[in-house]
Formats: sequence, C-alpha cells, structure tokens
Amino acid sequence: LTPQLLKDQVVVVTAGGTTEPLDPVRFIGNRSSGKMGYAVAQVAAMLGAKVILISTRPELAVPAQLERVIYVQTAAELQGAVQAVYDQANIVVMAAAVADFKPVQYAPQKIKKQVNQTDFQLNLTKNPDILAALGQQKTTQFLVGFAAETNDLLSNAQVKLAAKQVDLLVANDVSQTDRGFNADDNEVTLLWADGTTEKLPLTTKVTIATQILTRIAQVQK
Ligand code: C5P
Repeated sequence: LTPQLLKDQVVVVTAGGTTEPLDPVRFIGNRSSGKMGYAVAQVAAMLGAKVILISTRPELAVPAQLERVIYVQTAAELQGAVQAVYDQANIVVMAAAVADFKPVQYAPQKIKKQVNQTDFQLNLTKNPDILAALGQQKTTQFLVGFAAETNDLLSNAQVKLAAKQVDLLVANDVSQTDRGFNADDNEVTLLWADGTTEKLPLTTKVTIATQILTRIAQVQK
C-alpha cells in the first residue's frame, strides 16, 4: 500500500442498499451489506484520499480518517447526496445497490389488511438511474460502477459499462453465498472502458478495494 497514492484526490463512495418506504413500518429493500463500499472508503482513506462516504448503513463502524459520512435511505436521497458533491469529486465509486423501483405512493399511515383479504397489489415506479446520470454529466471524474449479477455476468456487465458511460465496471457474481452480498470476500471481474477485462481471484473485499484503487491511480496519472 502506497500511503500517498491518492493524496489530494476527493473520492466519493456510495455503500449499502437503498430502502424505499411503503408506509411508516414497511419498506422494499435488498441484500446489499455495504461491506464492499466500506472497504473502498477505508482503503481510499488509507491511500491519502479525502473520502466522502454516502451510506445507507448507520450500524457499520465508520472507517478511520474519512472526510465526511452522509447517511441516506432512499434512492432519491442517495442521488441528492451524490449530486451535491459530484463537482468536487475526482473518483466516484457507486458500490451502493440502488433500488430500481419504488412504491408509486407512500402511505402515511400503516397499511392494514382487510378481513378475508387474500392478495395485495403493489404498484411500483422506476427510480432514476443515478449512475447513468453521473455518466452523462461526467467531466473529469473517474466513474466506477458495480454490477451484481446472478447469471450471464460478463455480457450483462458489458452492456452496463457502455450504457452508463462508466470508466470501470466491477462485475460480481452474487449467486454464491461465500462471496458477494454480505460475505467478507468477493470475486470480481474488472471491465475497463477501453475494452480490457481482468478477473481478480477470490479474496477479501479490502484487498479487492486496494487492487481497484491502485489501478485507478495508475490510469489517472
Ligand atoms: O443496472 P444495475 O442496477 O445493475 O447497475 C448497477 C450499478 O448502477 C451500481 O453501480 C449502482 O450503484 C448503480 N445504480 C444507480 N441507480 C440505479 C440503479 C443502479 O446508480 N437506479
């Protein structure tokens, strides 16, 4: 680890899964633990960067030496937080699992089941694709997306790399329980905008974060 590798760089990291409330007691969420994003934030700070962590996980221990931590819950809040700091960012790592859809309506009072009710229709509406919007607005930022897939990992990731105009897409297979979601380890493939791909072997999320950030520092030079 080169302690000053990211000195003076502002690194924005999003971590965790967003939740979309249905009513005061219920939400739609996903299984993202936030561990990958926290590992990126931790390592970026160890490399001397000014790290702004945007997190949905207030229960996780905050890594040392971060510049700022902003807690959010919904995709809309996450988008507001990342947009507010995008201009000052050098590297943006979107490790958060953002909900693709949210309830059309929020019920201000708890939704009650009716006597004899056997089913329930829930209408959802599309959330903005935050990463794609960042890709369109990109000036000098180095933009990193994550893609969690259960099948056709590389072809799905290739499509996202192009569609979202990111500089690096980190693809991970979440179909196995010893890696990916909630695990401390991960096995990812890096897809760079120039078409090169690299498979990193199964290792800890902190090691993966180190490899990703070291490579980004190299290409930014
Ligand atoms: O399309 P998909 O959700 O698989 O793409 C994953 C990447 O896109 C992640 O980096 C995630 O943070 C980002 N994303 C986003 N806004 C969404 C959905 C995903 O920024 N609404």
